[in-house]
Amino acid sequence: MTDDDPDAATDADTGETTGTSGGDTAVRRDRFSGGPAREFLSSLAADAAIFEADLAVDRAHTVMLAEQGIVDGAVAGEILAALDDVEAAGHGALPDGEDVHEAVETAVIDRIGPDGGRMHTARSRNDEVATCIRHRLREDLLDAVEATVAAREALVEVADEHAETVMPGYTHLQPAQPTTVAHYLLSYEGGLARDTERLRAAYDRVNRSPLGAAAFAGTPFDVDRDRTAELLGFDGTVRNSMDAASTRDFLAESASALATLATTLSGLAEDLIVFSNKGVVELADAYASTSSIMPQKKNPDTLELTRGVAGDAIGEATGTLSLLKGLPRAYNRDLQRAHASVFEIAGDVREATEVAAGAVATADWDEAALAAAAGEGFSTATGVADLLAMGGMPFRTAHEIVAAAAEAVEDGDSPDAAAAKVDEAARKVTGEPLSAYVSREDVESALDPAESTASRDSAGGPAPEAVADELAAAEAGIEADEDALAAERDALAAATEALDAEVDRYV
Ligand code: ARG
Repeated sequence: MTDDDPDAATDADTGETTGTSGGDTAVRRDRFSGGPAREFLSSLAADAAIFEADLAVDRAHTVMLAEQGIVDGAVAGEILAALDDVEAAGHGALPDGEDVHEAVETAVIDRIGPDGGRMHTARSRNDEVATCIRHRLREDLLDAVEATVAAREALVEVADEHAETVMPGYTHLQPAQPTTVAHYLLSYEGGLARDTERLRAAYDRVNRSPLGAAAFAGTPFDVDRDRTAELLGFDGTVRNSMDAASTRDFLAESASALATLATTLSGLAEDLIVFSNKGVVELADAYASTSSIMPQKKNPDTLELTRGVAGDAIGEATGTLSLLKGLPRAYNRDLQRAHASVFEIAGDVREATEVAAGAVATADWDEAALAAAAGEGFSTATGVADLLAMGGMPFRTAHEIVAAAAEAVEDGDSPDAAAAKVDEAARKVTGEPLSAYVSREDVESALDPAESTASRDSAGGPAPEAVADELAAAEAGIEADEDALAAERDALAAATEALDAEVDRYV
């Protein structure tokens, strides 16, 4: 800083150009520095999450200012060099400030003098913070997308091994109809595929630049908003400057997509907890925990924590909407609290996705125990009724016969004994033997859980050939999502590289 610099900020009391030591900063001045509310106002600690994003945004904005002739190229070079230095020192070394944006600006001014203040030409912290949030959130969303795709892969792999492994299917947590482990796991692959889609859709809307909106009302400077968007790898801008600076709908949408994903995982976790309790699935030790007092215990803690993360994620989504509801245009400081926790929640949900996938991939599915459980509670009853209806009986009559048989059929009955009970019920209800409609052999086959499952070959059903189609479709979907994810990562990496190259032209 030079004394004769016309741009040097002047302290009102001393008449001296201001340094930034003590409580006041380049932006706050002494009137708004210090006092009991300063800490409450400050988001500097939480802003560690957007420190890197802020530096990228500062760099892109500075390059654009130089390209547009708004800031001299040599000054831009000094600012950009100072930003490198600020980055090397790290977030922890920043001077005091209400937030990272102000602290970084102060740090630049501390290094190069008042010219550092030119960095904030034609922008506001309002468009700056909105851009930083989006810049950081893109990475979190892509990480979450990646985790969902990997989880789907794990599900498909295990499903592939268990296309013929019968298991009980439940409704109301009561034995309902037998299915296969593959069919069960693919039900979650379907849910996670939609979670991938929702996250990617959120990403598309997050990936727009608000920069250049200034406080909300635009700027008289000849800024090139498309250029900063390009330098930061955004796929265009949020055009209306009031919308750009004020909207946080993308946070609500991202949090909702994360909460929906966490809810999918929570259902999977709950199932596996129940299956472990029934002794049909055993988690790998790596995904279990034990008791500090009961040495025999092997507990599904990882899955319980997965279930727990859903609560936090739902809280993030509802908290975000509650905060946004009724905020007037354009900027209100409430917004500082809108994004503080989303990055952490995104990380928690990503981790839960990875852990749930790992638990599924490494669990032992006890085929014998599953087969035994699959037939419990006369779970093949619907299949027997279907068989009678296919033999020409009205389904309602068939339902009545099998309902009557259900009173008599017991777990452990041989197929022959169970078929005899169905026959007896048929005679009671219709006065005719079963053989008037179907062969005894077919009834016994319908009473077998594996045969029963194999017979349900409707599209998307559990019969192995129907599952084979689903497996192929799931694999194709995973591959397409992997390609799309790689393209998005490449685009961001290319933008980072291009921005670095532009910066190098000045430094
Ligand atoms: N840290 C603030 C935030 O996150 C920056 C914006 C401050 N803007 C203002 N008009 N007071 O929202």
